[in-house]
Amino acid sequence: MMSYELRCLDLLNGLAALPAASVDLTVTSPPYNIGKEYESPRALPDYLAWCETWLREIFRVTKPHGALWLNLGYLEVAGRGRAVPLPYLLWDKSPFYLQQEVVWYYEAGVAARKAFSPRNEKWLWFVKDPHKYTFNLDAVRDPDVKYPLQKKNGKLKCNPLGKNPGDVWRIPKVTSGAKRSSKERTPHPAQFPLAVVERIIRACSNPGELVLDPFAGSGSTLAASQGCGRPSLGFEVRPDYVKMARNRLENLAGPELRGN
Ligand SMILES: C[S@@+](CC[C@H](N)C(=O)[O-])C[C@H]1O[C@@H](n2cnc3c(N)ncnc32)[C@H](O)[C@@H]1O
Repeated sequence: MMSYELRCLDLLNGLAALPAASVDLTVTSPPYNIGKEYESPRALPDYLAWCETWLREIFRVTKPHGALWLNLGYLEVAGRGRAVPLPYLLWDKSPFYLQQEVVWYYEAGVAARKAFSPRNEKWLWFVKDPHKYTFNLDAVRDPDVKYPLQKKNGKLKCNPLGKNPGDVWRIPKVTSGAKRSSKERTPHPAQFPLAVVERIIRACSNPGELVLDPFAGSGSTLAASQGCGRPSLGFEVRPDYVKMARNRLENLAGPELRGN
C-alpha cells in the first residue's frame, strides 16, 4: 500500500512547512468564493490576493520539472459579469508557465432558464519549466478509436494503445440523490471525480512521485494517488471533512478502487 498523509491545517500553514522544490505534482480545486458551506465570502480583490499567495507558495514547493493542475469554475463580478471564468482572473497570478487549458465537460448540471445551462469547468495545467516536464501520453491514451485497424503504407495509422484524449474531457460529475448517486460519492459538497484526477496523475507524474492537494476536501486526490501508486499529502482546514476523508482513505480497498 502506498502512503498518504492528510493534515488538518490552513493551506498557507501547511505549505509554509514544506521545503522548496519538494512536490512533484499538485492537483487541486480551491473555493470559488461563491458562498459554499466551506467558505467565508471575501471581497473580490481580497479573494484574488489570497489566491495569488497560495499559487506562489505552490510554485515554491514544486520541483523544477513539476506541475500544478488547477480546477476552476465561475464567479459573479458585480456589475460586470454573471459567471466569469476564474481562469481569466487567475491564470497569470504566479510564475508558473501555463501549458494548457483542459475543458472538463461533465454533462449534467443545474437547468438554467435565462442562460445556457453550465456543463463545464476548466483545468489549468501549469508547469515550472516549459522545456522539461512530465507527460506520459501512453499512460492515458483513449482506446475508443473509430477505425483502429486503418493502415497507411501497410502500417497502422493509429497508435495501438489508443488516441490522444484531447483537451475536452467528457467525464461525468460525482452525482448524489436516490438511485443516481455515484459509488464514490461522499457527503462533501464539491467532490471532483476520481477519473479526472487519475488521468492527470498518470499523465503528469511517475510512480512513486509525491502528489499534493492543499484543498483536500473529501480526499479525492489522495484516493486517486493511492490507486495510481503515488504517495500523497493533503491539507484541509475543516476537521469534519478531514474525518470524512480519513474514513474514505482507510477504506480504499473498497469498491471505488476496485473499479466498480
Ligand atoms: C472545492 S473544495 C475541494 C474538494 C475536493 N477536490 C474533493 O474532491 O473533495 C475546497 C476545499 O478547500 C477547503 N478549504 C477552504 N479554505 C481552506 C484553507 N484556507 N486551507 C485548507 N483548506 C481549505 C474547504 O473546506 C473545501 O473542502
